[in-house]
Amino acid sequence: MNWHKELKTPTKLLQPIKEYTTFKIGGKAKYFFETQNLEELKFILDFKRRKRLKLFVLGGGSNVLITDGVLSGLVIRLSGRAFKSIEVDRDVLRVGAGTALKELINYCIINRLANLEFLAGIPGTVGGAVVMNAGTKDRSISDFVKEVVVMDHQKRIKTLKRNQISFGYRQSSLNKFIILKASFNIKRRSLKKIKNDLKAYLTYRKTTQPLDYPSAGCIFKNPCESISAGELIDKCGLKGKRIGDACVSLQHANFIVNLKKAKFMDVIRLMKFIRSKVKEKFDIELEPEIKIWQ
Ligand code: EPU
Repeated sequence: MNWHKELKTPTKLLQPIKEYTTFKIGGKAKYFFETQNLEELKFILDFKRRKRLKLFVLGGGSNVLITDGVLSGLVIRLSGRAFKSIEVDRDVLRVGAGTALKELINYCIINRLANLEFLAGIPGTVGGAVVMNAGTKDRSISDFVKEVVVMDHQKRIKTLKRNQISFGYRQSSLNKFIILKASFNIKRRSLKKIKNDLKAYLTYRKTTQPLDYPSAGCIFKNPCESISAGELIDKCGLKGKRIGDACVSLQHANFIVNLKKAKFMDVIRLMKFIRSKVKEKFDIELEPEIKIWQ
């Protein structure tokens, strides 16, 4: 079957992938689909099943480290307008999974909708944020999720209520699905209050995180609520530790920044080094927060 011609969507073979990530690291995706609508998504899932391929759903590419070689699977982005709808109905906001968090925040500002301000400055999409339960120290997106519409790998669409989803720290039971849409509980607030909150979140990020370099955000999960991985790495004296062009940020030790041409293996080696030092000094095993695709 000539799948390539059947899809109207821009589909690419051996697509260079690093520009789709915030780390700016990664080789090529064997199959790469800019999915436009549900029909195409179903077609792609058939193709995946026939070829027995692994599926990678790329959101904002802000939480992944991708191999420099060929990623032997099927990478999709929910790029079409069909995946980027935003609508508000009283105190519920329904948002397509492909919507960038930045767009969501802008929509909330224009319509004076509050609750999701803490997502400001996170360079991801709604789908990515929901599946990994993105958040800050005191807030997670799961605090406001009402329902999530998903497609399973057998192409069935389901609406999951909040109590049918299990959310943990930077994880959820949604990772076996493709998220299509999420609904959030929101409230109305004055523009001034919303803007004040946004400013506080953005300023905190700017002053504590290395936003001028490519990175994948925090590399490791915090071991528990009261212990920050960044603080442990910092106390091991690792700020500035460099392997190739991968370097522990001088600003925040839980960020590895790509100084210029960092390779996948530079980051992997640096992560291993950091873990061994933290284990040695504190007897704590750090667990990666980022997803590693290889
Ligand atoms: N700290 C250090 N040295 C460092 C970094 C931090 O001593 O190099 C100390 C800080 O001084 C502070 C404590 O560690 O006392 C916590 O630091 P921070 O406020 O930066 O919070 P975090 O726990 O390191 C978490 C999230 C971030 C989120 C911030 C802000 C995780 C792994 N990280 O960081 O999320 O932006 O809170 O709310 O949960 C991400 O998930 O990618 C991410 C960046």
